[in-house]
Amino acid sequence: MQYRRLGRAGLQVSELSLGSWVTYANQVDVNAAVEMMAAAYDAGVNFFDNAEAYAGGKSEEVMGAALKKLGWARLNYTVSTKFFWGLSDAVTVNRKNTLNRKYLMQAIDGSLQRFGLDHLDLVYCHRADPNTPIEETVHAMSDMITQGKALYWGTSEWSAADIRAAWDIADRHHLHKPVVEQPQYHLFHREKVEQEFARLYDDIGLGLTTWSPLASGLLTGKYKAGIPADSRGAMQSLSFLQDGLTDKAKNEAVAKLEPIARDLGATTAQLAIAWVAKNPRVSSVITGASSVKQLKDNLKAAEIIPKLTPDVLKRIDEITAPLAA
Ligand SMILES: NC(=O)c1ccc[n+]([C@@H]2O[C@H](COP(=O)([O-])OP(=O)(O)OC[C@H]3O[C@@H](n4cnc5c(N)ncnc54)[C@H](OP(=O)(O)O)[C@@H]3O)[C@@H](O)[C@H]2O)c1
Repeated sequence: MQYRRLGRAGLQVSELSLGSWVTYANQVDVNAAVEMMAAAYDAGVNFFDNAEAYAGGKSEEVMGAALKKLGWARLNYTVSTKFFWGLSDAVTVNRKNTLNRKYLMQAIDGSLQRFGLDHLDLVYCHRADPNTPIEETVHAMSDMITQGKALYWGTSEWSAADIRAAWDIADRHHLHKPVVEQPQYHLFHREKVEQEFARLYDDIGLGLTTWSPLASGLLTGKYKAGIPADSRGAMQSLSFLQDGLTDKAKNEAVAKLEPIARDLGATTAQLAIAWVAKNPRVSSVITGASSVKQLKDNLKAAEIIPKLTPDVLKRIDEITAPLAA
């Protein structure tokens, strides 16, 4: 496992990391989380991603309990969370879909309590909030750092213009700047990372922690013959993913990737994860897994990254680029 700086920040994160969306508290309990996080850590993973909204706060509790059991030195791991959606199902003003100061300042305290930690390494604005001035959000995120509750902050699924505006405000007021963006990035979803953000990497030193490297499992090839009963695609709460997972052209493309992967001694999942990591703008590829076996298989993608030569990348592109958004 190699380690990369989080953009211009000095923090070094493992090129492959582990996230808890869908899985923790739904498919994965504390004991399984301990097993998975230990397997990841043994493979060199030092970054674990979470969010307030995952499983309504329970995902943070599961990861926090797992960290307690694992007892790692605090310096040896990086843990993140994200704020925006809030926890209450009731749509109450100032508690949902917002990045206003009132919400953010209580959200960090709630997350710290659920994790049982005295600080988080990385906190993200989980989406942009058009109803709060960016200046207000930047001040609140910077204050979390000044108060010692977080060490770095960033954004997720923000536009390049909003990221740049946040950075400029922080620069102008000598506040802590956003150092990282968390976008979706995989073989079928490229535009933001490769086009829209292009100027930000050198101009403001933006780092990237990217999500869904397997397009929720599509790139494993498991959806070629429909939706397996025990898969994410079969989960009622995630039915919005089904059209994408069963897309005929994309599943055919995944089948065409199989011989390329085989030539490299890899699975298509490992190939797809390695492809994301091959982009030097990516600080860390946040992987997801519902079992230890999947996780261990996927982390072997680290060995495939150097095998992605220009020729191999060209073959992969010919198959996937025409279908990518
Ligand atoms: N910032 C954001 O808005 C945002 C959004 C989404 C995700 N994320 C972060 O990114 C992380 C990763 O996203 P993701 O979970 O969507 O990643 P992904 O790698 O695209 O999908 C992971 C899922 O694919 C299936 N899978 C993984 N490896 C497999 C294998 N070898 N064989 C068969 N199936 C396999 C598993 O689901 P099943 O076994 O259940 O089918 C697993 O949970 C999340 O945990 C979260 O931390 C962030």
